[in-house]
Amino acid sequence: FANATQASIYVAQQIAALITQQQKQGKLAVLGLATGNTPKRVYQELVRLHQNEGLSFANVVSFNLDEYYPIYPEDEQSYTYFMQEHLFKHVNIKPQHIHIPHTRCETEDILDYCKEFEDKIASFGGLDLQLLGIGRNGHIGFNEPGSSFDSATRLVNLHAVTREDAQADFGGLDQVPQQAVSMGVNTIRQAKRILLLALGERKSEIVSKALQGEITPEVPASFLQSLAQVEYVLDHEAAGEII
Ligand code: F6R
Repeated sequence: FANATQASIYVAQQIAALITQQQKQGKLAVLGLATGNTPKRVYQELVRLHQNEGLSFANVVSFNLDEYYPIYPEDEQSYTYFMQEHLFKHVNIKPQHIHIPHTRCETEDILDYCKEFEDKIASFGGLDLQLLGIGRNGHIGFNEPGSSFDSATRLVNLHAVTREDAQADFGGLDQVPQQAVSMGVNTIRQAKRILLLALGERKSEIVSKALQGEITPEVPASFLQSLAQVEYVLDHEAAGEII
């Protein structure tokens, strides 16, 4: 796409079309959602479609990819807060249909919790559509370099580049959590459709590596090359290094 707005509107339209199509058949639309800078414009467009064009979220079930660990959902840096601010509080999604990993400090057994999260996705018949961004180190969700193709939802250690990129949000590197809970590569690859959105020049190097480089755990997004249901949605700048 010529620019970030066009790319984002395309993604929002794909999501809206899925929601509407499922609605017509009396079915739920199970969405895997991402946070970060990249999807903000997508959510803005979905909110507009809800407010001005009657798009209903009553049949939407959502699962977010990841969440810092530990963090309280009320914290402004939490992904629960992000999703409320950018999407959920503006649309008619049912609160019981929202799933974001709970990672507050008192969560007793995070490993059991991760298994429950996987089971919950399966109980809805899997993800109909997963929206992804990409980290500058090639991560998808918080599947950092070294993640395996078979990884499930789990507690992960955040990579130095990921923590560096989050420091502005947390007001300093020492405030950025060391860990997160993330859906695994295996969780993501089971989605029926995957849209990876990447915007801007700062993503161009990793986009070309992920799309055209070797398939390796060192660039977790490169695993997507082996999947037929993946679409990369890029603006002109993010596509700048593709040969
Ligand atoms: C966020 C997530 C991450 C981001 C990635 C890009 O839920 O899973 O993989 O998509 O770090 O972040 P931005 O969009 O801020 O460049």
